[in-house]
Amino acid sequence: MKAIVAVDRAWGIGRDGRLLQPIRADLRRFKELTWGHPVILGRKTLATFPGGRPLKGRRNLVLSRSADFRAEGAEVFSNVEALLAAAPDDSIVIGGASVYAQLLDFCNLVYVTKIMSTYDADTFFPDLDAHPAWEAVETGPVLEEDGVRFRYVTYRRA
Ligand SMILES: NC(=O)c1ccc[n+]([C@@H]2O[C@H](COP(=O)([O-])OP(=O)(O)OC[C@H]3O[C@@H](n4cnc5c(N)ncnc54)[C@H](OP(=O)(O)O)[C@@H]3O)[C@@H](O)[C@H]2O)c1
Repeated sequence: MKAIVAVDRAWGIGRDGRLLQPIRADLRRFKELTWGHPVILGRKTLATFPGGRPLKGRRNLVLSRSADFRAEGAEVFSNVEALLAAAPDDSIVIGGASVYAQLLDFCNLVYVTKIMSTYDADTFFPDLDAHPAWEAVETGPVLEEDGVRFRYVTYRRA
C-alpha cells in the first residue's frame, strides 16, 4: 500500500478542514498517480471534495464510524480491519490526518509534495525525515507555481 500527501515545512497538511495551499500541478500529479487505483480516505476528507462526491476513475474506500453514513459511489467501512480486508495491495491512502496516522504502518511508499512554506496548520502528517523507518529515495527539483515553491519527494520504508 502507498500514501500520497502534500505537506508544508512543518509537515502540516490542513486547516479548518481544507488543504493549506492547493497547487494545480500537484493536483494533476495526484490524479495521475491515483488514477485507476483504489483510494482510501476518511469521511472528513471526502467532505472536502466538490459536492462531497467520491473521486472518479478510482474505487473510493471511505472510513466512517457512523453506521448510517452513505456516499453514492463509495464503499464505507466502519473500522480499519474491515477496510484492510477489502483493500487491494495497490490501494493508495489519500488522507486525512487520522487515516494517515492509522495506515502509515501498512504503507511501504509515500509520495510527498513538500511545499517550501509554513502555514498555520491544525492537522499534520508524521515527519518522515525524523522517522528512522523511512528514507527519501527520490527528490525532485524545486518547482514554482504562482510564487509557491515546492518539490516532490518519494519516501520508502528503509
Ligand atoms: N495535504 C494533504 O495531502 C491532505 C490530504 C487529505 C486531507 N487533508 C486535510 O486533512 C484534514 C482532514 O483530516 P482529518 O484527520 O480531520 O479527517 P479524515 O482523516 O479525513 O477523516 C476523519 C474521519 O474518518 C473516520 N475515521 C477515521 N478513523 C476511523 C476508523 N478507525 N474507523 C472508522 N472511521 C474512521 C471518522 O469518520 P466519522 O466522523 O464519520 O466517524 C473520522 O471523523 C483536512 O484539513 C483536509 O484538507 C490534507
